[in-house]
Amino acid sequence: MENILQIENLHVKAEEKEILKGIDLQIKKGEIHVIMGPNGSGKTTTANAILNNPTYKKEQGTIIFEGTDITNLKTDEIARKGIFMSFQLPEEIPGISVTNFLKYAKNKTTGKPIKIFEFKEEVKKYMEELNMNSKNMERSLNVGFSRRRKKEK
Ligand SMILES: Nc1ncnc2c1ncn2[C@@H]1O[C@H](COP(=O)(O)OP(=O)(O)OP(=O)(O)O)[C@@H](O)[C@H]1O
Ligand SMILES: [Mg+2]
Repeated sequence: MENILQIENLHVKAEEKEILKGIDLQIKKGEIHVIMGPNGSGKTTTANAILNNPTYKKEQGTIIFEGTDITNLKTDEIARKGIFMSFQLPEEIPGISVTNFLKYAKNKTTGKPIKIFEFKEEVKKYMEELNMNSKNMERSLNVGFSRRRKKEK
């Protein structure tokens, strides 16, 4: 089966220090990968490199997502292809509800206007599938959650 994500021989530097020294990773549709390793081994750097955070300079290697070379695309272009980086301690954004954030993200990735009622029903369905409390849909993004619940979201 075709790879969704394919990383080949990735070398990444930050502040003149070589952090990733030739990473290879293949992820196929439906697979869940967990990357484990000691503190400072480069897990977060790998995620930043996939999203092309400009702090991390790619010296060598390629990243292919769904058949497109995304190695040097801008972060927003990569995000619009559907790659999202979540954080252990995400920023709190009062005034923006979870629903509005997801609706905006979907609009930007599909390029189509989103009908709010249908969209809310769709989100609710996914939240039920994931055993998440759908009341949280209307709360402000990451506001008032404990550290653990921020991660679950
Ligand atoms: N912006 C940066 N500038 C300089 N060095 C950096 C930068 N980001 C990460 N590093 C260094 O790169 C190495 C890998 O860090 P990284 O955060 O990717 O590791 P990690 O595997 O995610 O660790 P942890 O398990 O602690 O989250 C560390 O030595 C870190 O100090
Ligand atoms: Mg990390």
